[in-house]
Amino acid sequence: MADYDSSDDFKLAHCPGPGWNDILASDDIQPPAFMAEDHARYLGSEPIDAARYYSPDFFRQEVEKMWPNVWQFAAREEDLPEAGDYVTYDNAGRSYLIVRQEDGSVRAFHNVCLHRGRKLKTDSGSAEQFVCPFHGFAWNTNGSLRTIPCRWDFKHLTDEKMQLPEATLAQWGGYIFVRDNPEGPSIEEYLSPLPEWFKRWKHEECVTVAWVGKVVNANWKITMEAFMESYHAYVTHPQLMPFTGDANAAYHVVGDHVNVNYTPFGVISPHIEQAGLPQQWIVDEFRKYNGRSADNYDPEKDNYNIQVPDGQTARQALGAAMRQTSAAMFGGDYSGVSESELLDALVYNVFPNFAPWGGFMPNIVYRWRPWPDQDKCLMEVRVIARVPEGQPRPAGVPMHLLGEDEAWSDAPELGVLGGVVDQDTENMELCHEGLKVSKNQAVELGDYQEVRIRHIHQTIDKYLAK
Ligand code: FES
Ligand SMILES: [Fe+2]
Repeated sequence: MADYDSSDDFKLAHCPGPGWNDILASDDIQPPAFMAEDHARYLGSEPIDAARYYSPDFFRQEVEKMWPNVWQFAAREEDLPEAGDYVTYDNAGRSYLIVRQEDGSVRAFHNVCLHRGRKLKTDSGSAEQFVCPFHGFAWNTNGSLRTIPCRWDFKHLTDEKMQLPEATLAQWGGYIFVRDNPEGPSIEEYLSPLPEWFKRWKHEECVTVAWVGKVVNANWKITMEAFMESYHAYVTHPQLMPFTGDANAAYHVVGDHVNVNYTPFGVISPHIEQAGLPQQWIVDEFRKYNGRSADNYDPEKDNYNIQVPDGQTARQALGAAMRQTSAAMFGGDYSGVSESELLDALVYNVFPNFAPWGGFMPNIVYRWRPWPDQDKCLMEVRVIARVPEGQPRPAGVPMHLLGEDEAWSDAPELGVLGGVVDQDTENMELCHEGLKVSKNQAVELGDYQEVRIRHIHQTIDKYLAK
């Protein structure tokens, strides 16, 4: 067991050299105070039992005790903009129809015919009624019974009894959440402190501009955990090192359901840092390999060439250029926006299946869910972007589901990000295989850089203990 005399010792126990706060301090414009608060927490050093990832019994406990009681990210508002639009959301032994109502509200019904149990829908789309393709029982979009063919044969079925059962639904920031259990914390309590912190980034004003999914041969937690630390980047993603402060990253635990990793971009990784490497090199590599930002630049525009003025850092130069580009692309005033909110990986994780990036650039949003059991997972990468000022809000793009033999890099809409996720996917699938045959059945975690992984396991345990 590691021995930290105080939480201050723990905070100092990581990353020799400049930390997250030192990097922020040398920027031109400071981000909001919450990003510089240190929420580092020491949560223990015990190994994680490998069976949690592959055991059918552990998976059954998650399905029974955890999934029905958590808020699950089920859809974005732009997935169902008009009355009658619906999204099917399947997860962990349940299937929901998320439906836009005539009055603009959204409701979630269990997606099962109350005759002999056929799933009503297997896709997402628009409907005036939900007609079961087996015998034709039909429901209105508000879940009330519409027709039963040969109703004379079903005198025992009242309209009331045939109302589609409903799940609890909540909306925040353009996201729609469902929870099976009607009891439990409100979405605001559950997400706290994100509703306050994300006010600035207005995800409700963004729309989905890219959305790619792939069934991965790994447990949903292995898949999620591959996106919870930057510690792997040095070995897994060497192409990112010229502009990624992987070992300078901050890892914060801010509630039972929320944690965050802030990884600075626009600085050389401490792993490859050498005296005399020019700041201009950082900028040029960032433009090539940081998919989230560089692809949004238009080479025809004047500011495509970003030169670092003498005496400035790459972050300062990139920040200045991105303030200009963001104003040109989206409208509005970016003059007071920090470098960090324009450059960095601000990766929040809301337990158990929702990970939105913060900041002002187009934001990645991850989702993971068992597909359908402990051995496979549906992983989705969305990119949501601001709607340019004065322009009508476009519909969101639908999911591009990759085939079994397709790689993330086969999805052109992800740009260079696809190759990065391919590098991660190889790790995920081989971890799943490896843990099944592991001799000591132990997963060891770094106390600081991997604290978010320990955090989600502790949160799972709280649900399983209830
Ligand atoms: S199962 Fe749906 S109408 Fe018979
Ligand atoms: Fe990665």
